Amino acid sequence: MTETSSTPSTPSGNPSTADAYDAVAELYAELARDDLDGLPLDRALLAAFAEHVLGTAPGPVAELGCGPGQLTAHLRGLGLDAFGVDLSPAMIDLARAAYPDLRFELGSMDALDALGVADGALAGVVGWYSVIHTPPSEIPAYLAEFGRVLAPGGYLLLAFFEAEGGPVTEFDHKVTTAYRWPVGELARLAAAAGFTETGRMLREPRESERFRRGHLLMRKGE
Ligand SMILES: C[S@@+](CC[C@H](N)C(=O)[O-])C[C@H]1O[C@@H](n2cnc3c(N)ncnc32)[C@H](O)[C@@H]1O
Repeated sequence: MTETSSTPSTPSGNPSTADAYDAVAELYAELARDDLDGLPLDRALLAAFAEHVLGTAPGPVAELGCGPGQLTAHLRGLGLDAFGVDLSPAMIDLARAAYPDLRFELGSMDALDALGVADGALAGVVGWYSVIHTPPSEIPAYLAEFGRVLAPGGYLLLAFFEAEGGPVTEFDHKVTTAYRWPVGELARLAAAAGFTETGRMLREPRESERFRRGHLLMRKGE
């Protein structure tokens, strides 16, 4: 198991993303803790994801880019065998302290082999606003890694900022550089990586939010 005091041993993920989240981890955890309470559409989608996974082939589910762990805990509350992975040591420390019964690992979501996650080991993968910081040219490699660790028929759920008619666009996310995606473009890359779309959801921004939210639910080909 990787210790929180060390950086991932593989040269993946962006160290500056980890540093940026380390710097805001406590504030982020405070703001995120109850965020889902005010988001019934998001909760409905997460419940649908859990129902799909549990109704197909139950197994471990990784929340990749789990931050302080509240979404991992929500997935566990939906009956999933969920664990979290994040690049930021401070986030992993907070997640472990807040949810001591759950497993959280320090690592990069594009190098899950470094954490011992074998080919086809997972029933589900969730990337909830975590691939938003990945440079677009690297997204195919990330999708390939998600496909590697998922069992055939396993589910992938992505949440991200939607581009609202424009192309992939870099924007000044409060923590560090992030990208907004046309939902169709991300779906196309996922299809090229071997995923079949189950469904997609758009949610308009709340008063406190800037952009439309995109969500893709996909299944690894059998
Ligand atoms: C916006 S936060 C989302 C956290 C959590 N999923 C949530 O919904 O509250 C993005 C998280 O992704 C993590 N992250 C970014 N790139 C990563 C990578 N390559 N591997 C693992 N975690 C990563 C960041 O450290 C940060 O904690």
